[in-house]
Amino acid sequence: MDFDLTDEQQLIKQTAREFTDKEIVVQSRENARNHHFDLEIVKKLADQGYLGAIVPSEYGGAGLDYVSYGLVVEEIGRGCSSVRTVVSVQTSLVCSGILRWGTEEQKHKYLPKLCSGEWLGCFGLTEPDTGSDAANQKTRARKTDSGWVINGAKMWISMGNYAKVAMIFAQTDPSLGYKGLGCFLVDTDQDGYKPAPIEHKMGLHASDTASIALEDVEVSEDALLGTIGDGFKIAMSSLDSGRYSVAAGCVGICQGCVEESVKYSKEREQFGKPIASFQLVQAMIADMVLKTDASRMLTWRAGWLKDKGRSNTLETSIAKLHSTEAAVECANTAIQIHGGAGYVDDHPVERYFRDVRVTTLYEGTSQIQKLIIGRAMTGINALVPA
Ligand code: CAA
Repeated sequence: MDFDLTDEQQLIKQTAREFTDKEIVVQSRENARNHHFDLEIVKKLADQGYLGAIVPSEYGGAGLDYVSYGLVVEEIGRGCSSVRTVVSVQTSLVCSGILRWGTEEQKHKYLPKLCSGEWLGCFGLTEPDTGSDAANQKTRARKTDSGWVINGAKMWISMGNYAKVAMIFAQTDPSLGYKGLGCFLVDTDQDGYKPAPIEHKMGLHASDTASIALEDVEVSEDALLGTIGDGFKIAMSSLDSGRYSVAAGCVGICQGCVEESVKYSKEREQFGKPIASFQLVQAMIADMVLKTDASRMLTWRAGWLKDKGRSNTLETSIAKLHSTEAAVECANTAIQIHGGAGYVDDHPVERYFRDVRVTTLYEGTSQIQKLIIGRAMTGINALVPA
């Protein structure tokens, strides 16, 4: 067993770390305060090759392996989860879906523009009444002579207000259940696509989140990704990549919590000595290190399986479950170490705490990950009615 990163992977990680500190961290507090979705940072991400990082170079991507992609996402996640969300959605949910399921024509049409950042994409699966039960789509696609007409509503869609292309999942024939689902690459520049910002979020203030009304949205036949009936599998396979990316971002939050807590505890003095010298503070740091290392190992394993082309849905769910829950706990512990100073945004741990909370919810709740793991172990699908 080899736990060493290659020289190239170490360089990729180091470069991502320096980029994050120079371009992202310096802006993260102001952007969060101002609820500013920073398109200049998006452009820098694209210039750096981080949008569509796993896309082969023939389609405009950086052609990174999954482990390397995870290293980049970890560093960006340490810097700012709002920025990390851009990378995760664009690369994992949108690009990986088109890469796996698209025709050559679709790949050449969409991927170079997504990788270059000219276009942003979004992933329209969740609906107001359809979250965990993703197969139960209420959005409808009706066949016309020239293509499809889509009506419905989507909810909690990252980048939905800025996307030029939206992956919209819709039911074509309710009697078919999940086998009736289609995935449509919708051009958002039309009147029927009506996004609206979701305000007053707990965290991810510098991230764009939309509700989307779809009113007689027209798409041509060649906007269908895969075939009718592939929609659910497209969603699930894209989420295999998306959950990996969330896991890697949360490793970054864990790592950030450790680094910030070590630094602060050595500076802050109480009872005449740095609080780092107290055993109970060291115990909190040790707890965070344990969670960080375990999350990173599980994430690397999932990435390694992806790079080998082996099945990895189970291992990705394990990594996502562990890393997100660990990051929530680390952010909480890091604030404990910072005391009152951690309750305001002078230190990144305040933002970590607010931003991390959504990670056990989006791209599949912790409970859904447990059911995926439980089903793999027992062979019993807990979600099928008895
Ligand atoms: N890859 C490819 N195909 C897959 C797959 C995968 N990972 N997982 C399942 N499938 C296939 C199965 O093989 C099966 O196909 P066949 O019938 O041909 O065998 C088909 O899909 C149905 O599979 P299941 O029976 O496993 O489906 P299910 O209905 O039991 O799935 C579930 C249940 C796993 C809970 C699923 O509904 C799920 O993951 N729900 C959570 C949804 C979710 O994560 N939503 C997050 C939205 S994204 C987001 O947050 C957006 C954002 O902007 C941040």
